[in-house]
Amino acid sequence: MAARPRALRLAVLASGRGSNLQAILDAIATGTLDAEVAGVFSDQPEARALQRARDAGVHAEALPATGFPSREAFDAAFFARVDAVRPDLVVCAGYMRIIGAPAVEARVGHMLNIHPSLLPAFKGLRTHRQALAAGVGEHGASVHFVTPDLDGGPVLAQVRVPVLAGDDEAALAARVLAREHPLLLAALRLLAGGRVALRERVVHLDGAPLAQPLQLTANDGFA
Ligand code: GRF
Repeated sequence: MAARPRALRLAVLASGRGSNLQAILDAIATGTLDAEVAGVFSDQPEARALQRARDAGVHAEALPATGFPSREAFDAAFFARVDAVRPDLVVCAGYMRIIGAPAVEARVGHMLNIHPSLLPAFKGLRTHRQALAAGVGEHGASVHFVTPDLDGGPVLAQVRVPVLAGDDEAALAARVLAREHPLLLAALRLLAGGRVALRERVVHLDGAPLAQPLQLTANDGFA
């Protein structure tokens, strides 16, 4: 990807709280992320993410999945709206619906997801509960390109968080979430700088294949 002549246009998909969206909006507002949120899209009309977008003066739309005859029919209608804002990159930030393979395949390399685990560990839902049940000493979050393999797409970057004695699901989730925001922003800065591309389903950084996911450091850069 060559250096971009203009700010990276993002479409953000969110089903709920929207704290990752807020981190993006705040970073853009303070000039620490050279991007623009072209629209926020949800399957949940009551999602707090939509209000966060509107408060920031960003286009926000909801399309509930009820009434559509199939996943593909819903995705076609939903992504027609997303495409209308002409995003360079679609960011799934707490978008809780599974996206069908046709809609994903059409966007491979142009769609990212943030997932609250150190992928490939703990795919799917309730990742913090899964981590506690497995007794791991370390947990975290991953930013990955979306492919039809659910939570299985190529990982760009991760952040590691300790699991502490006495942690419950809420405590661990809060510790991870606090680090998700800088992780997502650091990943988006690389994309905004034109430094990351997916080629043949392999993440490339500065033109070279990435052997392992980048690791966010304590000062919010990559090791
Ligand atoms: C985050 O934990 C994200 O990793 C996961 O869903 C959650 C969304 O949180 N995919 P928020 O809506 O951004 O606050």
